[in-house]
Amino acid sequence: MTVVGPFKLSVQDQALEADVQLGLAAVEEALGDATKSDVPFITVAAKHLMEAGGKRFRPLLVLLAAQFGDPNAPGVIPAAVVVELTHLATLYHDDVMDEGLMRRGTISANARWDNSVAILTGDFLFARASKILAALGPEAVRLQAEAFERLVTGQIQETVGPRPGEDPVQHYLDVLSGKTGSLIAVSNRFGALLSGADAHVVDILTEYGERIGLAFQLADDVLDVASDSQESGKTPGTDLREGVPTLPVLLLRASEPDPAVPGDLRLRELLDTGFDPALPDADARHAEALLLLRAHPALTRAREATLRYAEAARELLAPLPDCAAKAALEGLCDAVALRTM
Ligand code: IPE
Ligand code: IPE
Ligand code: MG
Ligand code: MG
Repeated sequence: MTVVGPFKLSVQDQALEADVQLGLAAVEEALGDATKSDVPFITVAAKHLMEAGGKRFRPLLVLLAAQFGDPNAPGVIPAAVVVELTHLATLYHDDVMDEGLMRRGTISANARWDNSVAILTGDFLFARASKILAALGPEAVRLQAEAFERLVTGQIQETVGPRPGEDPVQHYLDVLSGKTGSLIAVSNRFGALLSGADAHVVDILTEYGERIGLAFQLADDVLDVASDSQESGKTPGTDLREGVPTLPVLLLRASEPDPAVPGDLRLRELLDTGFDPALPDADARHAEALLLLRAHPALTRAREATLRYAEAARELLAPLPDCAAKAALEGLCDAVALRTM
């Protein structure tokens, strides 16, 4: 067994390993080209996060899905570049929205320069993605537009919060499907479609992408609490600080206060007051809440839920023909749910 690419995908089959290695290398080269501008400053800003690292999870899924057709079909690599550029652009914008200071183990673009530079660099990357996408034809453009609409809708819904009377957990899951499931699903769809896979395979892989995408974001939200910045490359506790209630907090709020759990009441009090920097001791209270949440059973329950969603994704793969790519996609489910970066 070998591990492939920055996501460290476990692959048993040598031919698949070679295909994915080559595919990822081609994606890197194309990303290098797509982030060059005639204006030197734009090149620096656009390459800032591209070169900082990242897991390249979405291109990886394009490449794996393309194994169900002709993996060397001409549209596969450009589609993988389009989804990574789109993702990259959303990271520039997301850090503006979340006031994130650290990304991919380095300073975020908004912190290195300012919000305007981060927003416009994101727009530049969207433009470059669109240029590559155009060559893939109107169906690909439509699919990408639909996914992007869902992504943006998810981000907006997160900002707006649930309507009065709406179930906060259902709202949260809808946000996750939109902001993260959409692009991961379309990554699979592109790989399958552009490699010429059968229509029913295209649909199964798309649905799988939707569900693994949800598990991927659930894991991200657990990591926001549980991980340190060495591992995640981001500042822990950003969701808490921004007042974005993710599954650990939603499960805590949905449960009865439990004096048997150390710090349970104190944690609820800290979360209710929030961490507005204008409040006294905001930093110390935030650090305290993060420690208490790390040790709280609600975090364990959020981890269990993440594993269940990943398992639901794996089950969807059952009808696919047995092959090395199917085994890799099955293995990906645990890797996504249990990831530490
Ligand atoms: C971060 O995505 C934003 C989410 C949708 C969770 P990734 O975890 O894929 O970020 P990189 O590309 O590895 O930096
Ligand atoms: C953002 O979710 C998802 C998108 C970028 C669409 P998060 O806000 O949780 O992502 P991170 O944790 O900053 O990467
Ligand atoms: Mg964020
Ligand atoms: Mg996050």
